Amino acid sequence: MRAIHQPALFQEDRKIIAESFSADAEIVFACGTTLDILKTCPDSFAKLIITSPPYNIGKEYETQTNLDNYLSEIEPVLQQIVRVLSINGSLCWQVGNYVEKSEVFPLDVYFYPLFKKLGLKLRNRIIWTFEHGLHCSVRFSGRYETLLWFTKSDDYVFNLDSVRVPSKYPGKTHFKPGPKYGQPSGNPLGKNPSDVWKLMLHEWETGLWNIPNVKANHPEKTLHPCQFPIELVERCVLALTDKNDWILDPFSGVGSAMLAAVRHDRRAMGCEREKKYIEEAKKRMNLLFSGELPYRPLGKPVRQPTEREKVSKIPDIWLMEKIQ
Ligand SMILES: C[S@@+](CC[C@H](N)C(=O)[O-])C[C@H]1O[C@@H](n2cnc3c(N)ncnc32)[C@H](O)[C@@H]1O
Repeated sequence: MRAIHQPALFQEDRKIIAESFSADAEIVFACGTTLDILKTCPDSFAKLIITSPPYNIGKEYETQTNLDNYLSEIEPVLQQIVRVLSINGSLCWQVGNYVEKSEVFPLDVYFYPLFKKLGLKLRNRIIWTFEHGLHCSVRFSGRYETLLWFTKSDDYVFNLDSVRVPSKYPGKTHFKPGPKYGQPSGNPLGKNPSDVWKLMLHEWETGLWNIPNVKANHPEKTLHPCQFPIELVERCVLALTDKNDWILDPFSGVGSAMLAAVRHDRRAMGCEREKKYIEEAKKRMNLLFSGELPYRPLGKPVRQPTEREKVSKIPDIWLMEKIQ
């Protein structure tokens, strides 16, 4: 576990925290219903809107309804989201599956046409995979969710160099005869991290990213049942925005996206209906200021048990059953 260093934004006594949007603020904790809050915000203010909306799967903060109702209820919010998004901005919409009577409905498939209708352009459908979760008995266990990255126009920020990962073969050279023959063919800053964010542990072998989902043994775990890993948001913050840009999470929970934004000297706004999550988000922000926020650093593998630990061993009873 490591604490985050105090961000520069707060070192010059400039922190202005508000409860509703204000152009002068640096952090906005807006408690209320997203639709109402967004209606009070100016057009085009947010460079990045990143969120994980409620999935309609019966979590403590949502009332489950059928898929059509769920989508028609959220549609007016999508219109507001697009209105407040900057013309050079990006939307990162992270969703999983809605499940009804064991039938799986991948939510990104339903959201894509809604955002397309509102004029957004898809740049990547990022697969975010993780190793832990429910074990299914009637289908394969789900181990990924998707993050749809849209932009509002063709002129958008993409700071690839700030999120490159180590190349698998940095020593590779140009092999075709010509002026570059024999020179390194890769980029000294590393390679493009791709649209599959998987196993950091094996990053050197596979070149994939792993951003573990936040479960009980994760240093960032709070009272929220499905919070974002800060690390997941950080990649988007670094790649898709510049310092001082506004980052909005319209369903902000315990403020993980806001923390990632502030940690990198961006302005952050979160909308959240549940007061207890807002309070937790404020607590976490204070911990960030004091350098005590429990945090899983970008790229650090989640602890894996060794072969000698009990959890890694085949239980004796299974071995005995095999012998008999
Ligand atoms: C999937 S969670 C987001 C968690 C967040 N990414 C985090 O890291 O904590 C969705 C959040 O949206 C909030 N929410 C659901 N419907 C809302 C609405 N209509 N207005 C405001 N917040 C809402 C829920 O209370 C919940 O905290």
